[in-house]
Amino acid sequence: MYDTPFHQSDISKHSFLVSGGAGFIGSHIVEYLLKWKAGKVVVLDNLATGNINNIQAFIGLPNFTFIEGDICHPTDCEKACIDIDFISHQAALGSVPRSIENPLATHQVNATGFINVLIAARNSNVKRVVYASSSSVYGDLNESPKVEERIGKPLSPYAVSKLVNEQYAAIFASTYNMQIIGLRYFNIFGPRQNPNGPYAAAIPLFIESLMNNQPVYINGSGEQSRDFTFVENAVQANIKAMLCENESAVNRVFNIACGDSVSVNSMFESIAKEINPGAKAIHRGERFGDVKNSKANINAATQQLGYTPQTNFETGLKQTIAWFKS
Ligand SMILES: NC(=O)c1ccc[n+]([C@@H]2O[C@H](COP(=O)([O-])OP(=O)(O)OC[C@H]3O[C@@H](n4cnc5c(N)ncnc54)[C@H](O)[C@@H]3O)[C@@H](O)[C@H]2O)c1
Repeated sequence: MYDTPFHQSDISKHSFLVSGGAGFIGSHIVEYLLKWKAGKVVVLDNLATGNINNIQAFIGLPNFTFIEGDICHPTDCEKACIDIDFISHQAALGSVPRSIENPLATHQVNATGFINVLIAARNSNVKRVVYASSSSVYGDLNESPKVEERIGKPLSPYAVSKLVNEQYAAIFASTYNMQIIGLRYFNIFGPRQNPNGPYAAAIPLFIESLMNNQPVYINGSGEQSRDFTFVENAVQANIKAMLCENESAVNRVFNIACGDSVSVNSMFESIAKEINPGAKAIHRGERFGDVKNSKANINAATQQLGYTPQTNFETGLKQTIAWFKS
């Protein structure tokens, strides 16, 4: 992966902080930056849901620093931001059900932690902050595909926390004259996504269950759909958002997806075909807080950031399954 660059400028002159860089998406951003010889890459992560194995290969490189720290602690954020040019902020507690079980923890990390990162970025004169928002901000909006200008009411504490990120980003940009770009990810999947635990995302969970001959449960009819997006595309979006010189892209939020819609049933069929043809899923009740259908219009990211997804759902899924098998 990452054999062709998404950037044109010389990143050996720049320093990058990836918060949540030991997690799934963050570790891919780190991998890309180190592969293309970034001047300095710092990871700030408390390993709450991430895994040191995701970045083990980079520890010891002269241009890489891992800070085991918490974005809820302002001093950890200040330390991580020293001499940093660009931040890719990925640290958060993901998962809608987790946020329903513990809304305070989700708020503390996703909302308060985000403010800590923004304050530290401001104090260190960081050039630009790019942060992970989520398609969950579209909430109950019954419109497809989703365009950035129109959102609905959030359906979970997680969605509220991401919406609050967008609102604080806008206020910090205007109040402190900062450059901040939000990326509304739509169901990112790929190698290194955690299949374990009660809050695992569907794709790694289904792959792991099928590989281990365990039952696969689909919530509701399975006709709910998602704009499943291979992680390489999310990395491209982060790199382009951090480095793009188009001023009209700054202080906005962008959908990051493929612009396609795949039902959970057909996602399951695609995985089963590769691992255990003929396997059947068990349907159970709908999950509270889930949105029904989610498909993005990605024109804004394409026009403003030059974002063009390079790997579609089926190709990304094959690569993901190959990684889990290996
Ligand atoms: N994966 C998706 O489909 C998806 C969709 C929408 C938005 N997002 C967002 O993308 C970002 C990355 O998600 P991911 O899927 O890679 O999840 P992940 O859980 O693999 O990564 C999150 C990382 O943040 C770290 N972290 C959590 N709390 C922290 C804290 N208090 N201080 C420091 N580090 C902390 C975790 O240890 C982990 O390494 C998150 O902001 C998430 O909300 C993900």
